[in-house]
Amino acid sequence: MKKTSKMPLKLKAVFCIFFAMLLFTSCKKAEESTDYTAIVTDGEKEAELTAPPMVPKPVGNRPAMKLKVNMEIKEQEGTMTDGVKYTYWTFGGTVPGSFIRTRVGDEVEFHLKNHPDNKLPHNIDLHAVTGPGGGATSSLVAPGHEKVFSFKVINPGLYVYHCATAPVGMHIANGMYGLILVEPEGGLPPVDKEYYVMQGDFYTQGEYGAKGLQPFDMNKAVKETPDYVVFNGKVGSLTNGGELTAKVGETVRLFVGNGGPNLVSSFHVIGEIFDNVHVEGGSMVNKNVQTTLIPAGGASIVDFKVETPGNFIIVDHSIFRAFNKGALGILKVEGPENKKVYSGTIQEGIYLPEGGTIQKMPNSTAAKTAIPKRTVTEKIKIGKEIFGTTCFACHQSEGQGIPSTFPPLAKSDYLNADPKRAIKTILHGLSGEVTVNGKKYNNVMPSQNLSDDEIANVMTYIYNSWGNNKTDVTPEMVKAQR
Ligand code: CU
Repeated sequence: MKKTSKMPLKLKAVFCIFFAMLLFTSCKKAEESTDYTAIVTDGEKEAELTAPPMVPKPVGNRPAMKLKVNMEIKEQEGTMTDGVKYTYWTFGGTVPGSFIRTRVGDEVEFHLKNHPDNKLPHNIDLHAVTGPGGGATSSLVAPGHEKVFSFKVINPGLYVYHCATAPVGMHIANGMYGLILVEPEGGLPPVDKEYYVMQGDFYTQGEYGAKGLQPFDMNKAVKETPDYVVFNGKVGSLTNGGELTAKVGETVRLFVGNGGPNLVSSFHVIGEIFDNVHVEGGSMVNKNVQTTLIPAGGASIVDFKVETPGNFIIVDHSIFRAFNKGALGILKVEGPENKKVYSGTIQEGIYLPEGGTIQKMPNSTAAKTAIPKRTVTEKIKIGKEIFGTTCFACHQSEGQGIPSTFPPLAKSDYLNADPKRAIKTILHGLSGEVTVNGKKYNNVMPSQNLSDDEIANVMTYIYNSWGNNKTDVTPEMVKAQR
């Protein structure tokens, strides 16, 4: 006979009541300790505010206190992308606005100042506020005036703030949004690097890349068809010198917001997995996430450890927004390679699907005998096919490129000036600013996984098409640049 617990029924009941009481009292304690409305603040100081992509120092173990926030609204002209100007309306002179970092239980005395040179009244709705309009009803301020109101932050999390003056959509579309963090008691777990990234969609009367000062287009905003979808207020804010940086082995936390006004972001970092995601910026932590959804007027806190060096590309994975509308940034990680985590290409060979054997070749040392001698005409024929599968999506069928996004290959001064540089671009990829035929391009071209022979063929095709200089690129030339 199997032995089971033989505790008398009476004793069981006593134990149950005992545990229930224990549970009840501990719940009550937890409840009491999260009643942040009751906290008496200890001391007073002016809040540190930072421009993106930086964030203020963590709160650590400090007690709740009175924090004075001085926020100045500025309407000012800025750059959307090369040659394109836009009149931004800002909290603190940047898009997104200054980052505010608080601790649960803090009492925030908010001073909202509308610069006398501004043309319009504004206010602020902070999603961290418990009160009418999130503060908007108490903060409408005319140019040359200041409004003060105060609130207690009683829910930890990452919150969006924005202007809520009519027409609300237009004020947000012009850049009037930012983030306020309410850290839990004791602060968030420490990490090595913290950054502030916020997405927004912009609506201009000209198409993407149309030059000059571009006015806001209400019609496109209502239809929700933005010309620009960007991080931190402009195309290229996090590339070309603005890259976020970290070293191999460090932990990185991104405070990510979405100002909208319309689009929902599918936030993703190419080649990384978020170890922890504070879902929607709240207290629930999800683990091992590839892409996290950030609603318009919402936020998310993500963190991850960087194990290998390289450029990790930050995107909205609604991917045309990344490559055609600007929602693209770079996290540049430097440090030693970690071949156990990521090997790089370790082998390259010829694949014969018709039952033939696979001839393996170690990387970068493709056997010379494997590459037949080809005439220029043969190379052009093979190269055209490779172009049609690998290159045409960005550079287009006649090598014309896509205006303001991908440079042309036709009559390209960049190509014709230096075939070695062009070979390197295909082999190793290219990111950052390049000037082609007098126009600047700032995008990311990934390195292409092609053999020396394939690169020689496709480049010979390109050089012998669309008015280029008829260079005959050989596999040996390619090998020399590997
Ligand atoms: Cu406003």
